[in-house]
Amino acid sequence: MSVDELKEKLLQVETDAVAELERADTTVRLEELRLEFLGQKGTLTMVLRGLGMLSKEERPPVGELANRVKERIASEISARKEHFYRLELERRLSGETLDVTLPGTGLALGHQHPLTLVTERIIEIFYGMGFSLAVGPEVETEYYNFDALNTPADHPARDEQDTFYTDAGSSVVLRSQTSTVQIRIMEQQKPPLRIISPGRVYRNEEINARKYPIFHQVEGLLIDRDVTLGQLKGTLNEFIRVFFGRPLKTRFRPDFFPFTEPSAELDSQCPFCLGDGCRTCGHRGWLELLGCGMVDPNVLKGVGIDPDIWSGFAFGMGIDRLAMLKYGVSDIRHFWSSDLRFLEQF
Ligand code: DAH
Repeated sequence: MSVDELKEKLLQVETDAVAELERADTTVRLEELRLEFLGQKGTLTMVLRGLGMLSKEERPPVGELANRVKERIASEISARKEHFYRLELERRLSGETLDVTLPGTGLALGHQHPLTLVTERIIEIFYGMGFSLAVGPEVETEYYNFDALNTPADHPARDEQDTFYTDAGSSVVLRSQTSTVQIRIMEQQKPPLRIISPGRVYRNEEINARKYPIFHQVEGLLIDRDVTLGQLKGTLNEFIRVFFGRPLKTRFRPDFFPFTEPSAELDSQCPFCLGDGCRTCGHRGWLELLGCGMVDPNVLKGVGIDPDIWSGFAFGMGIDRLAMLKYGVSDIRHFWSSDLRFLEQF
């Protein structure tokens, strides 16, 4: 090939390369073109092989042109790369725009569980009547759960509370009632005393809409001189009036609890139908709310309190049941569901 032919070829390579590079639309394509024109087996290298056939004098001008073409192509490639890089940067910057004036997405504040709300309301109401808070352990001994509450081992009342026994020791149980706290407090404090004690209790119940093996009770205990059944009634009637937000008729039905004598079950007029009968009260017009009575002298004696000087009343109510009534919850299992659609209503 002559000098002129070679030069013409080189210029042709340059023209082709520039045109192709202009059409390239990705960096991958740029790399392909770099190999195609400048690579070891690229077009330019092929043309340069022809240099060998020229004489010593003829070579320099062709070599010079070859270098110029090579540089031109290389600089075209880096210009195109730079161009793509800018485009990409612009695309990302516009996609990731951060408007610092937009309002933030706030973290929703949690709130109290309905059972906690009801427990606190109950505590608050009894605080207003001079009761103070007491707490007791959930893992108990049979002594506090039964014996000290005038319920010896052979007493049929034990069977009514299907108790969880543990293998931590034959007498260690999960408490089946908060009445245990009556004994623990009377052992520690001298009368007069007024306490309420909310907490969890456990019974081996089959789970259904009204029963769950873990539930909550509030225990109340008042010990003083000359305490009367009338005071018990007055205290509970006042509690019901404030809790349901209206005066409701109540009735005390005789019942039996080993640790009170006499014992009663307190019913209140249904706060929903006011006695007409509705689904909540099972069309009876009345709701069973709690157990209560005058503290049995045997219980007082057992903790070293002289029943000739001191007397008292006690009551125990189910918090879950009160919460269901207050909020119209039809299934106790909702309290355990952790379902936000339920919980967020309170
Ligand atoms: N502990 C009883 C129960 O779980 C409820 C109860 C009844 C508590 C009468 C009392 C009471 O303090 O006087 O069934």
